[in-house]
Amino acid sequence: MKLQIHNLTKKYGTKTAVDHMSFTVENGVYGLLGANGAGKTTLMRLICGIQRPTAGKITLDGQEVSGMGEEYCALLGYLPQNCAFYPDFTALDFLLYVCALKGIEAKNAGKRSRLLLREVGLEKEQKQKIKTFSGGMKQRLGIAQAMLNNPGILILDEPTAGLDPRERIRFRNLISAFSKNRIVILSTHIVSDIEFIAGEIMMMKNGRLLKTGCTGEITAEMLGKVWECTLPTVQAEKLAVKYPVSNMRNTEDGNTVLRIISPQKPLDGAKTVQPNLEDLYLNYFKEEKRDETAFEI
Ligand SMILES: Nc1ncnc2c1ncn2[C@@H]1O[C@H](COP(=O)(O)OP(=O)(O)OP(=O)(O)O)[C@@H](O)[C@H]1O
Ligand SMILES: [Mg+2]
Repeated sequence: MKLQIHNLTKKYGTKTAVDHMSFTVENGVYGLLGANGAGKTTLMRLICGIQRPTAGKITLDGQEVSGMGEEYCALLGYLPQNCAFYPDFTALDFLLYVCALKGIEAKNAGKRSRLLLREVGLEKEQKQKIKTFSGGMKQRLGIAQAMLNNPGILILDEPTAGLDPRERIRFRNLISAFSKNRIVILSTHIVSDIEFIAGEIMMMKNGRLLKTGCTGEITAEMLGKVWECTLPTVQAEKLAVKYPVSNMRNTEDGNTVLRIISPQKPLDGAKTVQPNLEDLYLNYFKEEKRDETAFEI
């Protein structure tokens, strides 16, 4: 399957949330990475047909999806950013209800719902009412409902929000097994999540795609620009004001190790290190971060 986005634009009044975006996705896991307000949710809602674009179109294997009707809907699974539940439903009842909405035959609905409850680690809680669930449990139920119809295109808006580390690992494994021969697009602002889960990363800012590629490809431009140096904490704090710092950790002997982003060597003794996605993200979003800090002060 080939899902193509052509010049897609969505405006809310004068605000352009998605700005002439074009890209193609085929089978695999794609991670949409971007700061708050980058346009991730809007893009996902456009792909799911919940919102109409101001301009541009979406095609699946060359066919425009807006004309495909139910055939396209049947291919989609979607986890909204703030998935709403019926608090008095049990987890199992909720999934059965979603099965009915999606037109899944009753004889398969129970089996499929139980299987997914097991896959997201809610097997024991299937008879509990959703109002007794923690945030992470609700999130996992949301992931399960998105996968009920075995979708060829799975769209997950911040699926790992609220998951503890063990559940993140389970989610990652579930998605990699599921993504064979399917398109999975997920959004997050947690860099480490996307680095592990997604084969392809799409970095988004102000409604546009800044970069796409695997971690190695898109971080290549940072080669030679990420430095580590160890110095006394007092000096490290002074240096940290001058440069974007992607990591700072104290050592036991009163020193601090700084990880600095800079085109030039920031000081004698600094050594270049292998760039990661966090370094790249910081490089692209550093100005906004500084503005926000200034605002808070
Ligand atoms: N219904 C709406 N009406 C007006 N503006 C909107 C609406 N929905 C989103 N926006 C604006 O469009 C931009 C993109 O929002 P969107 O929710 O797509 O971003 P996001 O990347 O999902 O952010 P977050 O990481 O916070 O979820 C933001 O500036 C937002 O204020
Ligand atoms: Mg969002």
